[in-house]
Amino acid sequence: MAGGVVIHGTADTSRIEAPVTMKAYLMCAFAAFGGIFFGYDTGWMGGIMGMKYYIRQYTGIPYPAADASTTVTDAFVLPSWEQSLLTGILSCGTFFGAIISGDIADRIGRRWTIITGCLTFTVGCILETASTTLAVMVVGRLIAGAGVGFISAIIILYMSEIAPKKVRGALVSGYQFCITIGILLANCVVYGTQDRDDTGSYRIPIAIQFIWAIVLGGGLFLLPESPRYFVKKGKLDDAAKALASVRGQPIDSEYIQDELAEIIANHEYELSVVPQTNYLATWTNCFNGSIMKANSNLRRTLLGIGLQMMQQLTGINFIFYYGVVFFKSLNTISNPFLISLITTLVNVLSTPLAFWIVERYGRRNLLLVGGTGMVIAQYIVGIVGVTVGQDKGADTNKAAVSAMIAFICLNITMFATTWGPCAWVVVGEIFPLPIRSRGVGLSTASNWFWNCIIAIITPYLVGKDYANLNSYIFIMWGSLCIVSVVFTYFLVPETKGLSLEQIDKMMEEVNPRNSRSWVPHSTFASEMGLVEKNITVNVEKGGESTEEVEANAVPQVEDKEVV
Ligand code: BGC
Repeated sequence: MAGGVVIHGTADTSRIEAPVTMKAYLMCAFAAFGGIFFGYDTGWMGGIMGMKYYIRQYTGIPYPAADASTTVTDAFVLPSWEQSLLTGILSCGTFFGAIISGDIADRIGRRWTIITGCLTFTVGCILETASTTLAVMVVGRLIAGAGVGFISAIIILYMSEIAPKKVRGALVSGYQFCITIGILLANCVVYGTQDRDDTGSYRIPIAIQFIWAIVLGGGLFLLPESPRYFVKKGKLDDAAKALASVRGQPIDSEYIQDELAEIIANHEYELSVVPQTNYLATWTNCFNGSIMKANSNLRRTLLGIGLQMMQQLTGINFIFYYGVVFFKSLNTISNPFLISLITTLVNVLSTPLAFWIVERYGRRNLLLVGGTGMVIAQYIVGIVGVTVGQDKGADTNKAAVSAMIAFICLNITMFATTWGPCAWVVVGEIFPLPIRSRGVGLSTASNWFWNCIIAIITPYLVGKDYANLNSYIFIMWGSLCIVSVVFTYFLVPETKGLSLEQIDKMMEEVNPRNSRSWVPHSTFASEMGLVEKNITVNVEKGGESTEEVEANAVPQVEDKEVV
């Protein structure tokens, strides 16, 4: 057909992806910006709930006088149920947002789902900013949470699908880096406004979030859709255009044809194994297959959900949510902002190391080494804390406490360079295209679920009137890190340097323990016969970007219709 490009596919495993261009880097780097929502939104609420203006407005209790008794100053707080409600309602929104985001991303595309997430978030943000009553704030937080749920899941999906395989891990780690920056920014802004005696004290930190929504939502209008989404929809011409755009190559370049053929063939293969018959099946397919088979959909879904659960059970958010209270109880640092600044800065500054090591040493190695490092660091903190570092008032051993703080920072560095980014990187890589969006959504929902559980139970674990675990809590987190290492050893495959389709093949052929040495030896295109078949996509030859090809061109698939 005139102007059409025939997709042949290749049997050469080294030719299934176009060379990496600066454009590809920049697109992913921009998408990583979505991490700011995640970090900032989890970061501001804690600070705001401690602000005196906010407490007076939401409780009606007058400011305690300068010479007020401790009973009066202690009573000047938001009631615990209100604090739990405000913290928990965000997680509730994000949890459900992440689950339904997969569905939406398969219907309207990854890009539009993220843009919808930004709009939803903006509506929630307007309510939060305008609120002067608990009810409005709670509704606003629920809606904003749903938006963050959309964004946090689908950014991972989008980035994993457009990033070149050689740098996919590094680029997705950029998302984690943005999370850490978001947490830091929230801390700084809240610190800057906390002493204001007007609604600006809490409205400024909340309203700043509009900037993130405008930048991300606006920027995504200019980025192309994921080519893999178009393949899933059977819109092969759009897939070719999108792929040419993300790879910065002419549409009829052999690289584009080979890569597109491989994506199409892999999708056909997956559908032949687990057909998608109706809407319900799109969900039930996530739980299909045997738990004993490393490549079954069920195993992959449990792997994604489990990985995000283990990431939360490393205990990292104990430090970010309750670090201030814990450090204060050590009787060494009196300025809470300084404490949270130290921990969040260590988090931000160590994350970039992951960009390099995640591609150099691989995801599996990092998860194993990072998990082991966190076991050691947290055991040391716990053991020192319950022995030489115990709180003895003025007689507390300051050197022991300093050592504890140093090991807490080391623990953050371990997390920031391994489990922080890798949990997201792996979740974006392990699902086959037919269930990828739902799998990533369910895994992200698991992250938010456990995040919420930890936020809710920790006060009871450390509270003097409850379990009063004290420094023993670090032994608990350290022990959970042992579980995370065992989990990784048996269940997490090495995905470094492979295309998403090659990962699918690798998971089919070897178990996670042998995955490191697996090398691609055939292509889906050759196995599914795409090398011989003539699939024609209706695009202009030589066109390089979406602007240069017919808008809404109808796909023409000569030999095979992709479902
Ligand atoms: C986790 C968050 C955590 C953050 C810290 C993320 O990967 O999912 O729960 O607060 O890292 O940097």
